[in-house]
Amino acid sequence: MTLDDGQVAALVMQWQQEHGRSHLPWQQSRDPYRVWLSEIMLQQTQVRTVLDYFPRFLERFSDVRALAAASQDEVLSMWSGLGYYSRARNLHRCAQQVVAVHGGVFPTSAVELAALPGIGRSTAGAIAAFCFGERAPILDANVRRVLTRLLGFGEDLAIAAHERTLWELATSLLPHQKLAQAMPRYTQGLMDLGAMVCVPRKPLCGQCPLQAKCCALAQGAQEAYPVRTRKLVRSSEAWWLLVLRDSQDRVWLQRRESRGIWAGLYCVPVFHCYQDLVEHPLGRIASNRMERASFLHVLTHRDLHLHPVLGQAPASVVVSDDEGAWFGAQEWRQLGLPAPVRKLLDDTTLAATGSAPV
Ligand code: ADE
Ligand code: SF4
Repeated sequence: MTLDDGQVAALVMQWQQEHGRSHLPWQQSRDPYRVWLSEIMLQQTQVRTVLDYFPRFLERFSDVRALAAASQDEVLSMWSGLGYYSRARNLHRCAQQVVAVHGGVFPTSAVELAALPGIGRSTAGAIAAFCFGERAPILDANVRRVLTRLLGFGEDLAIAAHERTLWELATSLLPHQKLAQAMPRYTQGLMDLGAMVCVPRKPLCGQCPLQAKCCALAQGAQEAYPVRTRKLVRSSEAWWLLVLRDSQDRVWLQRRESRGIWAGLYCVPVFHCYQDLVEHPLGRIASNRMERASFLHVLTHRDLHLHPVLGQAPASVVVSDDEGAWFGAQEWRQLGLPAPVRKLLDDTTLAATGSAPV
């Protein structure tokens, strides 16, 4: 996908020199302590805010030894207002590790930097490129956007193999010559393009040095990149199921809403805790309440821990609830029911007719 001859890097560097940012305080230094501190602060915080905190922090902790020697409370208090406090705790731990393991001197390669607390691969690449001219790529959210658009890289970055491929492509685009000057310039150039030109909505392609080479622009589909589906986060929930039967052994079922789990199916009433169940009008009329063994039902994105509660409605009761109705066994067998609910009804019908009361 990249038959790059160094042109991309040359265009980015030239643009950075003419249009990029060059007066930010952390750009005035190749001291890895300062560069590291600024990169950590800039991870989730706007430049404007960091401009305020960065000098104050340096005033109090002038080098990595001073930071390592401070108490965590003091570090947290200097960080106060920047948010994401795990950054501050990792910052402190990282400083202590630089002192304890590296004699107070930051290691110089991206690989070693990435082994320190709170320094991910992209931050390690930035420090190594800015301070030591290493030919190491960065791939933070801004740069990911620039590169996927430039390359027309439409693979899903939620998949690790595609993310790895993009890192390799990012590496292939890096400058090859005069790295000590080129790497800081190029790295800053990509960051600046992502922040100033190739922005998430309505990128300013007319001002972009890469416009003649950009796949997304040629497709007229800049905002289609990057592609990232939601990571599948499995969650777990407890559901309390009220299996309420009347004197004719009919069961109370409700139709579920048209969205979400078991959409549109008939189901016994569901509650998110036992308390909700017993306080609900249907739960209150249920006599002989009896919990059955809970069981696990696995959905694509969720584990449902189902807790059935059996109950008997009094003979005289007239339940008026336009969300549900009584169904005899002949009737509910014809309905669309979630498999575990069908099984539960089957099992408890058998239990009601076939086994002795305990
Ligand atoms: N965001 C992350 N790193 C940055 C840097 N070095 N300059 C400006 N913005 C940034
Ligand atoms: Fe981004 Fe537009 Fe430049 Fe392509 S041409 S890299 S979409 S700003």
